[in-house]
Amino acid sequence: MGKNKKQRNQHQNQRNRKDASYYLEDNEQQSYPLTQPPNLSDQEQDSDDNNEDQNPSTDNNNISNNNDDDGTHLPSKFSLYQQSVQSPKGDISYLQKFFLTYVGGRAPLHLQEDFCGTALLSTEWLRSDSRRTSIGLDLDVEALDYCMENNVNKIGADISSRIFLYHGNVLQPQEAKLVKSNLQNIMHNATLEENENGSEPVTNYEALPSRDIVCAFNYSCCCLHTRHELVSYFKNALQALSKKGGIFVMDLYGGTSSECELRMQRKFPNFTYTWEQAGFDIVQRKTRISLHYTLHKHQNKKLRHAFSYSWRLWSLPEIKDCLEEAGFRSVHFWIRQMPDSENIKSIQGFGDGKDIKYEEVTSFQQQDSWNAYIVGVS
Ligand SMILES: C[S@@+](CC[C@H](N)C(=O)[O-])C[C@H]1O[C@@H](n2cnc3c(N)ncnc32)[C@H](O)[C@@H]1O
Repeated sequence: MGKNKKQRNQHQNQRNRKDASYYLEDNEQQSYPLTQPPNLSDQEQDSDDNNEDQNPSTDNNNISNNNDDDGTHLPSKFSLYQQSVQSPKGDISYLQKFFLTYVGGRAPLHLQEDFCGTALLSTEWLRSDSRRTSIGLDLDVEALDYCMENNVNKIGADISSRIFLYHGNVLQPQEAKLVKSNLQNIMHNATLEENENGSEPVTNYEALPSRDIVCAFNYSCCCLHTRHELVSYFKNALQALSKKGGIFVMDLYGGTSSECELRMQRKFPNFTYTWEQAGFDIVQRKTRISLHYTLHKHQNKKLRHAFSYSWRLWSLPEIKDCLEEAGFRSVHFWIRQMPDSENIKSIQGFGDGKDIKYEEVTSFQQQDSWNAYIVGVS
């Protein structure tokens, strides 16, 4: 189900998570955003639903270390997530563009990825410049371990010595702990920064060099449910940024289709990815998002609720108010319309709007589906 070269080139101009060149090159698979409905014909939808009762289903299990009945290795849920949801190259090119637009005067070198999960973006960030460093912070130690073993391990010691992963809460980053792994020695030898004595390498979160960019992607700020938490988090992000100037970048989705039940699927060569949005509570503005996978090469075994998130769907002006309250100097919205969720169910390809880029806006009329980058300038 890979795309031809022309389609790939066209696609590279699209929204970040639909710009799946990273995986297209490696695996000939397509990627799309967590909340952007994939294309699936009605026939495909039906056939998968028909299989629902006939195939074994695993609920919210990490199957990363499990074998199938025939002894073959089942893929990790994190591997499935990275292939189906993420495309870090697109995010990185927008991060660079935003930094040059709102700060400028120097190249952005130090990135912090909050809510990093498997920190694929942080790993990718290091590739293009040997001076770059990255810090990832997440509550899920299993995801961080996966990153160490599968992403960091594969990029070579010279690059992996420039990434620092922390296990902790974005609301209390100073209490976060450096992730232990078999790469710990390399990490401790990192020359990211030395302490006051000039001898021991710094692994304390607070002592790390200030960041040029802090980011929170795949709608992670929706994991924070109260205004107080959101403002506290934004203050922590601001605190981490360089006094020479820096940016905080997060993403958000919305539109009429984001406030109702929705279930979409997309087929990859080896698996089908299902994105499910439960009903939307208009009083609390909360929904539950679940990601399910069906493994084609394993008798269509299902991994249901591989990931499940309780999200408060913040509005753009709420985010702006909270960023300003936290102390950001200015806030900018970059929005693009996404393909209509009804059309996308019944067409092949990427449909309407495939060449639309993000544009900076101060006003934007409601659509079926849109995606936004929000940039806070320190
Ligand atoms: C939607 S996932 C996004 C992962 C990744 N940023 C991406 O782009 O795919 C949200 C992540 O936030 C983490 N998370 C949720 N609440 C958190 C908190 N208070 N502090 C740190 N991490 C948190 C979860 O463990 C999960 O890995």
